Amino acid sequence: MALERTFSMLKPDAVKAAHIGDIYQQIEATGLKIVAVKMLQLSREQAEGFYAEHHGKSFYEPLIAFMTEGPIMVQVLEGEHAIETYRNLMGATDPSQAAPNTLRANYGSGMPANATHGSDSPESASREIAFFFSDDEICG
Ligand code: PPS
Repeated sequence: MALERTFSMLKPDAVKAAHIGDIYQQIEATGLKIVAVKMLQLSREQAEGFYAEHHGKSFYEPLIAFMTEGPIMVQVLEGEHAIETYRNLMGATDPSQAAPNTLRANYGSGMPANATHGSDSPESASREIAFFFSDDEICG
């Protein structure tokens, strides 16, 4: 299979709890390469843009409030089956349902504080990567 890229985010809870290094270690242990990285604090407008598809859902406001609470890390990951590999590493959305030793089981504490986000399809990967990175910021 050709190399695939996915978008990865470490949410404010994971950054605040100083889990960046541990999570990067788990990502690299899968064989995926980290080919772009940024730390930033989302504005409300950015958070609303990123989660636009969930506007109107019951969890939307708490999610936006949580995502703008503190700095996040965003990454582009590259490798074979990158989307599936990273989603398997993250585990289920709700940390209480996530398999042992997944990122959300290890570092998430509930909803919305589930530590990480990852793209769920090639289309969302393209959109989410372009939301945060220009082509010349990716070292593939
Ligand atoms: S949906 O409705 O099936 O599309 O929802 P889902 O794919 O499970 O989740 C979409 C994103 O919303 C977050 N989410 C929540 N945040 C706060 N509280 C609650 N209850 C909640 N339920 C879902 C979920 O974490 C997803 O965001 P990401 O960034 O992908 O984790």
